[in-house]
Amino acid sequence: MQKSVLITGASSGFGLVACEAFLAQNWRVLAAIRGGKEREALFTDLLARFPSRMEIVELDLLDNASIDRLYHTAQAHAPLDALINNAGYGLFGSIEDTSDESLRKQMEVNFFGTVKLTQKLLPLLRHSQGVVLTVSSILGRHAFPLTGGYCASKFAVEGFMESLSAEVKPFGIKAYILEPGAFPTGFGSSLDWTLPLPSSPYLKATVGYQRLRLKISEKNKGKSLTPVGKKMVHLVTNRPFGLRHAVGSDAVATVWIARLVPANLFHQVLSAVINKLQRRQA
Ligand SMILES: NC(=O)c1ccc[n+]([C@@H]2O[C@H](COP(=O)([O-])OP(=O)(O)OC[C@H]3O[C@@H](n4cnc5c(N)ncnc54)[C@H](OP(=O)(O)O)[C@@H]3O)[C@@H](O)[C@H]2O)c1
Repeated sequence: MQKSVLITGASSGFGLVACEAFLAQNWRVLAAIRGGKEREALFTDLLARFPSRMEIVELDLLDNASIDRLYHTAQAHAPLDALINNAGYGLFGSIEDTSDESLRKQMEVNFFGTVKLTQKLLPLLRHSQGVVLTVSSILGRHAFPLTGGYCASKFAVEGFMESLSAEVKPFGIKAYILEPGAFPTGFGSSLDWTLPLPSSPYLKATVGYQRLRLKISEKNKGKSLTPVGKKMVHLVTNRPFGLRHAVGSDAVATVWIARLVPANLFHQVLSAVINKLQRRQA
């Protein structure tokens, strides 16, 4: 029987590549995006290639009513075999300079939105003995300087998913955390940078980090997103062992180095290297 997956943040980057990867494997895809069908043009190519297996649905993680509506749509399309919590964005900048409002919004989208949607859809996934896959980040495992807001949201997501994976196991539901490294998606251009005042002691480091990120983006420009889509399909269809799965050479290398080096030393060296890189660019 044909399987179906709901993918959030399907408008670009990993979400879009996931839509294509699942459609290519004969899955039915509910592509959840802000604006819903009004932004159908984003999927012209996929809708032409897979006209009967793709449905565009509206989702704004900041809007509870939109989460409720999506639940009803998913219920109408049941069975639902997989949920991919992919939507999110990054809040970067120093913790001291970050506003309460920005931090709360970051947590609302990346953490509370993900939790609320998952809670709503769990009954459907219990029925299908399905899979919940949440896209975190390598920054959900190791925190870098000047990424505190984003890291906090992804660490929260990882704690939630780790607990959830054990809770839902008796019901036949598998839970996975995907931890990508840096890839060329809309993530870089949609970053919410906390811009410090000229008097801020973090000004130099923040400007340096912005420049460093531009350099990394330039370097990663041609990097294919296909491995991320493939990894998602692999996790959802093969249901391998293990909760956390890194993807991308930088993320995989970070995980391996962290396994070989004592945790405190790893953290100290990583912070020192990144602080130096950030300041050197300023
Ligand atoms: N690219 C990387 O280097 C990287 C590395 C590690 C982890 N990640 C994670 O990967 C996931 C996907 O990001 P991406 O890299 O593919 O970036 P992206 O191209 O910017 O995609 C992010 C998606 O999230 C959606 N989104 C943002 N806020 C939302 C909200 N309030 N409600 C519903 N949808 C919302 C965006 O929708 P709109 O089109 O409406 O803005 C977009 O579809 C994110 O969770 C990100 O944290 C990315």
